[in-house]
Amino acid sequence: MNAYVRPTTSESSGVAPQQAVPAVPPCPVCGPATEGDPSGSLAPAPVWRPAPPQPTLAGDEIHVWRAGLDVDAYRLRRLTDVLSSEERTRAGRFRLPRDSARYVAGRGLLRELLGRYLDAAPSRLCFSYGSHGKPALAGQMAEQGLRFNVSHSHGLALYAFARDRELGVDVERIRTGLADTPAAERFLAPEEATVLRALPPAQRETAFFTCWCRKEAYLKAKGLGLALPLDQFVVTVTPGEPAKLLAARWDAHEPPRWRLADLAPARQYAGAVAVEGYSWQLRCWDWPARAESMPGSRGRPTPSE
Ligand SMILES: CC(C)(COP(=O)(O)OP(=O)(O)OC[C@H]1O[C@@H](n2cnc3c(N)ncnc32)[C@H](O)[C@@H]1OP(=O)(O)O)[C@@H](O)C(=O)NCCC(=O)NCCS
Repeated sequence: MNAYVRPTTSESSGVAPQQAVPAVPPCPVCGPATEGDPSGSLAPAPVWRPAPPQPTLAGDEIHVWRAGLDVDAYRLRRLTDVLSSEERTRAGRFRLPRDSARYVAGRGLLRELLGRYLDAAPSRLCFSYGSHGKPALAGQMAEQGLRFNVSHSHGLALYAFARDRELGVDVERIRTGLADTPAAERFLAPEEATVLRALPPAQRETAFFTCWCRKEAYLKAKGLGLALPLDQFVVTVTPGEPAKLLAARWDAHEPPRWRLADLAPARQYAGAVAVEGYSWQLRCWDWPARAESMPGSRGRPTPSE
């Protein structure tokens, strides 16, 4: 998320990060996180593997990459070079230089990753957009069946890739002060709000953002954005409970078409991916971070807000 797209609750709450939240959702591929933060905070799950130099994506695999978007000036120039003129124009429209730089890094990294999968020059890739703005590969490159989706929040980006199946990904930084407000329930189906209210207060923040990411990943997989009302479908809410689409009011056959998985992207961040079909395995990769800093990781700077 950034200032260019619609402001959302997590982006605009402007409150201090929470200190005490419960267990880290285990990575669906690599199992539970190892020792968490002793304070009980949402710790980074050390299950994101070092990136292979030339990733290959099998038909039954989903790859999710995580990357910090606060890159140094040299790297930013290199990433600017791969953008299209429209993307550079868009980058120029951000009010804050930090948001512009994150947009450039986010788009540039997307192009670099797509270029690796397609064995193509990042600058030569073209995108098309669905009726509600979902980007996809256009032109000849579209014929290879590579699908992707992107999400970013406060300097952290997730990139999800699949072959010949739709998918959506979402990351949100966990903020305090939102889950217990009446506004929070506007983002939930009544069933989800009931589960959230019944949780111990210490779990509600993480549960709210976990649920939010599961819902938004599904929305993004469908490509409909907020044209699909948030009370029309129900996902699991409790952190640690497997991510799942439980109901879609318009079609009882919708839930079995989609499988959801939580991602534990970083400390104080929730994340989820929603993918068409059931027969896939998730692989989580870390973008090589020589210059990029990963928000929320220990020993590295957290981006200024
Ligand atoms: C899609 C949406 C839910 C993403 O919300 P968000 O939490 O603010 O942003 P995220 O960081 O998770 O995702 C943003 C990325 O999702 C992708 N995206 C944009 N629209 C999308 C859509 N409809 N479906 C899936 N992905 C979409 C883009 O790659 C975008 O990255 P970019 O801003 O760098 O181009 C939100 O932008 C939305 O509701 N869009 C639809 C708006 C709409 O319905 N417009 C009507 C036009 S007729």
